Amino acid sequence: MSEQRKITIFDTTLRDGEQSPGASMNIDEKLRIAHQLEKLNVDVIEAGFPIASIGDFEAVKKIAQSIKGPQIAGLCRSGFKDIDRAWEALQYAGERGRIHTFIATSDIHMERKLQMEPAQVLEAAVKAVEHARGYTGNVEFSCEDAVRTRLPFLAEVVEAVIAAGATTVNIPDTVGYAIPFEFYEIIKYLKDHVKNIDDAVISVHCHNDLGLAVANSLAALRAGAGQIECTINGIGERAGNCSLEEVVMALRTRHDIMPYTTDVNTEHIYNASRLLSTVTGISVQPNKAVVGANAFAHEAGIHQHGVMMDSATYEIMTPESIGLNRNKLVLGKHSGRHAFIARLEELGYELQKEDIERAFVRFKALADAKKEIFDEDLDAIVADEVIRV
Ligand code: KIV
Ligand code: ZN
Repeated sequence: MSEQRKITIFDTTLRDGEQSPGASMNIDEKLRIAHQLEKLNVDVIEAGFPIASIGDFEAVKKIAQSIKGPQIAGLCRSGFKDIDRAWEALQYAGERGRIHTFIATSDIHMERKLQMEPAQVLEAAVKAVEHARGYTGNVEFSCEDAVRTRLPFLAEVVEAVIAAGATTVNIPDTVGYAIPFEFYEIIKYLKDHVKNIDDAVISVHCHNDLGLAVANSLAALRAGAGQIECTINGIGERAGNCSLEEVVMALRTRHDIMPYTTDVNTEHIYNASRLLSTVTGISVQPNKAVVGANAFAHEAGIHQHGVMMDSATYEIMTPESIGLNRNKLVLGKHSGRHAFIARLEELGYELQKEDIERAFVRFKALADAKKEIFDEDLDAIVADEVIRV
């Protein structure tokens, strides 16, 4: 196996993920998710698009002030006003603040959306990066719709923004159009044709319109990419983004064939997925890889027998590796406060004493009426008694 490479995990649940229909979050909700991402130990949290609204600005600012481990990124177009506003919110993260600026580089976007010539786009990209560098040494530049960009022009833009000071250059598949070996070739082309390519980290940002976002991201790693942009539960524009839990568990499970590592604490994946569903109200399909309700369920007799003999017969990763405790205590009317609090904590809730008391009273009342209390019941109790009060 070739040399190990640490891959930067850039989570954009709070920015691109939030652009998913019905997924918008208020400041407190974004902060809760950000704390969960901190537990997951992602490298970068893209907290929002500060110029988009006052609420988004305040959320990015609050996250920049409160989150201590990961870098905090804010998105901005390549205009100076956008960049200034982004830094106004990000400055509280100090050296961990990352300005993420972008402009589209494909012919269709330049002609039909921006109505700019390629030379103007190139100039705007370079000026944006130079302006951002006036604030911080941590600048990411994205070539929007890179996959449908003419390769020589893509290479020209990438080389110019690196020369202008971009420390990360992102190659998005904005419309989820690429297939894995094509995306591999695009990254390889940049590696071979951009002379200063090693001065920046190459990032990839894949949308899932053809269901290939994870596969494309993995193909890009093989061609030399060093950062993957992804979201919890794969939420995002249209069919979503590369799913964090899928790409991270693929890297962990198939480390035998992919010599790449991440710093993600995978044991927090399940709680992150659940918390996001609770906050957004968007549930996960039962057969969703890694975090779906059926991901570790076995129905067929032959499978059940195999798993009872040795779980590896039908499971390629353990439920425990994503923080799913298969032997969890069954909660019912005989359960006490300790079991109740322990389960809430496992689900990612950290409640104040008085909130616990209110929730516990509701739990006991429900347990009298129902044989077994499921995680979904606890989510509903917390939502009623704590989040909505
Ligand atoms: O999909 C995309 O191109 C984006 C960029 C703004 C990074 O989200
Ligand atoms: Zn995107």
